[in-house]
Amino acid sequence: MKNIAVIGSGTMGNGIAHVFAQFGYAVALVDISEEALKKALATIEKNLDRQVAKQAITEETKKQALANITTFTQLKAGVETADLVIEAATENSDLKLKIFKELDEAAPANTILATNTSSISITKIASATKRADKVIGMHFMNPVPVMKLVEVIRGYNTSNEVTETIMQLSKMVQKIPVEVNDYPGFVANRILMPMINEAIYALYEGVAGVEEIDNVMKLGMAHPMGPLQLADFIGLDVCLSILTVLYEGFGNPKYAPCPLLVNMVQAGHKGVKSGNGFYTYAPGSKDLVVAERFK
Ligand code: CAA
Repeated sequence: MKNIAVIGSGTMGNGIAHVFAQFGYAVALVDISEEALKKALATIEKNLDRQVAKQAITEETKKQALANITTFTQLKAGVETADLVIEAATENSDLKLKIFKELDEAAPANTILATNTSSISITKIASATKRADKVIGMHFMNPVPVMKLVEVIRGYNTSNEVTETIMQLSKMVQKIPVEVNDYPGFVANRILMPMINEAIYALYEGVAGVEEIDNVMKLGMAHPMGPLQLADFIGLDVCLSILTVLYEGFGNPKYAPCPLLVNMVQAGHKGVKSGNGFYTYAPGSKDLVVAERFK
């Protein structure tokens, strides 16, 4: 594998492009928006700079990594020489089906098509293609350059050979792959989201305040972020969408999203990305300030 195409240049897409470029792969970063691509390159450079400052990589590696990335606004041009495509577009089932149909037509017949979806069925995404054996989940965690895990999800028809290739490739970029099967939420979000939802219920029912709930989990369970801060970091809209996949996929009320989460998303309070969630976020500030209504 030499050529990797990444579809979508948002938080996950630019993180995935960063990692492959850092380890010497030629990366085609594809997004419909020129503006988004410019922003992604600036983010990648900033994050590479952090690694240089920490002496995790050299200035030369940083320069080479940036030189390894080419940007495209046309999907066909971006994927025509790809050995592997990793789709990291918005978490929307119809959009992913549309993209995979296009990828199947545009990418060479041998190209593996991976998706970074956090919860949409790999088997369903594969059904939009004529190569279901070569469709697989490659679920990176945010921030991608920092987190070790890649959840490798086998769809119903994913071949052993493709799974093995993706497991090996993940190790080549110093990640630790874990193989799981394709059921709602896979493993990561099947376990993480009920915890986050329960933390929101605890707040909603007045069991404790935002900081108290987060402190219990940070100090008591050694989590780097409390569940409410983590929900803000992931995006409250993303949390709601994953919980909905779990709720509908299993038909079990234990996954029902807390009404407070639903209200917050409907009100446009999406966490870090909108500047407000359980905490408020001022641009450039690292301070965690509890949102006014939860004080
Ligand atoms: N790129 C490169 N390096 C980065 C980075 C980035 N985007 N973000 C942080 N870093 C580096 C920093 O430079 C720093 O490096 P050193 O350890 O060498 O000093 C290190 O990561 C820690 O960063 P900070 O000092 O800025 O901040 P921190 O200590 O508070 O850690 C954090 C930040 C790594 C995000 C930490 O809070 C954490 O691990 N949080 C939990 C993250 C998590 O759970 N992610 C999974 C979310 S779920 C998901 O992604 C999947 C899904 O489907 C929902």
